[in-house]
Amino acid sequence: MAELILTIHIIVASFWIGGMLFMALVLSPYVRKLPQSTQAFQEVGRRYSLWGTVIGLPVLFITGLFNIKFISGLNPFGFWSVNAPYVQTLKIKLGLFFLTVVLAVIHDFYFGQRAHLSPKYKNISRILGILNLIVGILIIYFAVKLRLGGC
Ligand code: HEM
Repeated sequence: MAELILTIHIIVASFWIGGMLFMALVLSPYVRKLPQSTQAFQEVGRRYSLWGTVIGLPVLFITGLFNIKFISGLNPFGFWSVNAPYVQTLKIKLGLFFLTVVLAVIHDFYFGQRAHLSPKYKNISRILGILNLIVGILIIYFAVKLRLGGC
């Protein structure tokens, strides 16, 4: 069971980070050259938002709770008071996860949807997207730290 849950967690994490890297490094340079580039970004963004933000982030949270139980051997709803390096790292990872959720929701459902209205909304959408990629990479770093026992 632990293996299955961690496999799902890692596949969804790969999709989340990989999708953002793909957009930034592969798709964006091409789409920016198109005449209707903002609309194209919105179309792609809507699909990524469904699979990544609406489905992916909740799946990461739920499978993450099972990882805490099956892999870390902690109570997913009672580990907060445990004073151990592993738990400190887990708290940082969770904090970054909630930051990602906030950034993704603001990006996808506010600025991204209004990007065609003004260059200001477009730039803010871009900055939020880049910020979320950085936060995502940090989450991977702390996930690796967890594997190695925590900070
Ligand atoms: C964007 C969100 C997330 C990403 C990208 C992510 C990524 C990862 C990755 C790549 C691993 C595999 C590390 C390894 O075992 O070698 C992992 C493991 C794990 N994740 Fe996440 N994760 C995310 C969210 C969460 C959340 C929300 C929780 C808790 C509710 C969580 C809890 C865990 C735990 C406990 C492990 C096992 C760590 C260990 O090996 O001891 N993750 N995560």
